[in-house]
Amino acid sequence: MMEQAAGMMLRRLASSSRLLNAAVAFRFRAPWNTHFHFSTTSETLEPSQSPPQQNHDHLNPSQPSSSSATISVDRSALYNPPEHSHEPSSDSKLVAHLKSIIKFRGGPISVAEYMEEVLTNPNAGYYMNRDVFGAGGDFITSPEVSQMFGEMVGVWNMCLWEQMGHPEKVNLVELGPGRGTLMADLLRGTSKFEKFRKSLHIHLVECSPALQKLQYNTLKCEDEDVTDSNNDKKTISTLTGATVSWHSTLEQVPVGLPTIIIAHEFYDALPVHQFQKASLGWCEKMVDVAEDSSFRFVLSPQPTPATLLYLKKRCKWASTEEIARLNHIEVCPKAMELTHAIAKRIGSDGGGALIIDYGLNGIVSDSLQAIRKHQFVTVLDDPGSADLSAYVDFPSIKYSAEEASENVSVHGPITQSQFLGSLGINFRVESLLQNCTDEQAESLRTGYWRLVLQFHSNDMLGERFCYSGLLLPK
Ligand SMILES: C[S@@+](CC[C@H](N)C(=O)[O-])C[C@H]1O[C@@H](n2cnc3c(N)ncnc32)[C@H](O)[C@@H]1O
Repeated sequence: MMEQAAGMMLRRLASSSRLLNAAVAFRFRAPWNTHFHFSTTSETLEPSQSPPQQNHDHLNPSQPSSSSATISVDRSALYNPPEHSHEPSSDSKLVAHLKSIIKFRGGPISVAEYMEEVLTNPNAGYYMNRDVFGAGGDFITSPEVSQMFGEMVGVWNMCLWEQMGHPEKVNLVELGPGRGTLMADLLRGTSKFEKFRKSLHIHLVECSPALQKLQYNTLKCEDEDVTDSNNDKKTISTLTGATVSWHSTLEQVPVGLPTIIIAHEFYDALPVHQFQKASLGWCEKMVDVAEDSSFRFVLSPQPTPATLLYLKKRCKWASTEEIARLNHIEVCPKAMELTHAIAKRIGSDGGGALIIDYGLNGIVSDSLQAIRKHQFVTVLDDPGSADLSAYVDFPSIKYSAEEASENVSVHGPITQSQFLGSLGINFRVESLLQNCTDEQAESLRTGYWRLVLQFHSNDMLGERFCYSGLLLPK
């Protein structure tokens, strides 16, 4: 049914084209092959091992203090920094910030906290102050490779809108829109469909002020003089006339309208906890500062609250055999929470969600990776100067959605080539090829193969794992 509708839409896709020369490396995930400096000894965790020994006799306000009372200062929880830490350092703002968290916390931080600070710290996070995409950046994503990617997502959106009974108003939400390229191609491609175009209210969930500005430009936005009832100014995309608003979280997007949510390479940027099987059982991998002032991984001496909460929850959804095979497990609680929120919203307001990302149809073991200037680098090297990402655990999305709402069903995951193929990318490329220069034809063909083949010469497996998962009301 979706395929039939897609065929009809495709024939009428707007003819405008944005032809790209994408001669740069994909943002792609290869098997983890970096060697950690990793310690399982408890020595490395000393600062966090001595809980504060508070002398409650001196703190209890209900006891009158005697004149002979002495004041004692409990220093047991204070961090004892190595002597060289007083030397002048050339640490970046982010590195200094991470070290100060570890210092004042009195011990290592979780990999999830490290990842979150590195990517989205408001002052110095990787995404916050620059454009990281394309040849001049660190990686390239599918929408940047070819306009056809955004157009196919547009076809999927229109099919869904048709199935929803073409509502007059729809919230179209994109999570982490990057440069805004996917949304711009979606809007251009669907601009001929008057009713669909007019129904859209666009909401972009983006934490980076620098990328918000880029998105404003890519969508050719203009601010209207009129303000709405909340005194907020109205911003319009001149590509289609739709209103555009920015939010830092999904919760800020107004409820009450049918909602279509797109998340392309958003989930893989959400922070993951890492766990490792040790002699004492499952412990958490943490990030600490070594004697030489560099960062290093250490293992918690005993299970952490995250081990008890998140690992336990994830393992509930897996078979004993699956867990027994693994020595490492990654869990992304933020992905579970986000899916919960998406499912609740779609369950009550109607709509659907499309989650496109690199991932696995099973528990993820050890996938966290860093990419700088199109090369893999070590995760702890110069944090803030490289992108961090982790494979998406698709079963945990499915179970979180089903847990949140009885009204949604989860389909997939399927590979990207299956997804694009079923929406008719073959017909689209043929139609674009009929009306272009030789140079544009070359670029179109390269883009097409990169999207559907998912092959990268550096990839040891010879195939990239790219899945899409969708949530639709039952
Ligand atoms: C890997 S990029 C993907 C960009 C785009 N979807 C694409 O495919 O080209 C991740 C995007 O999500 C945004 N982002 C990452 N973490 C976020 C968070 N916690 N809240 C809001 N936006 C976030 C980044 O700023 C960036 O726009």
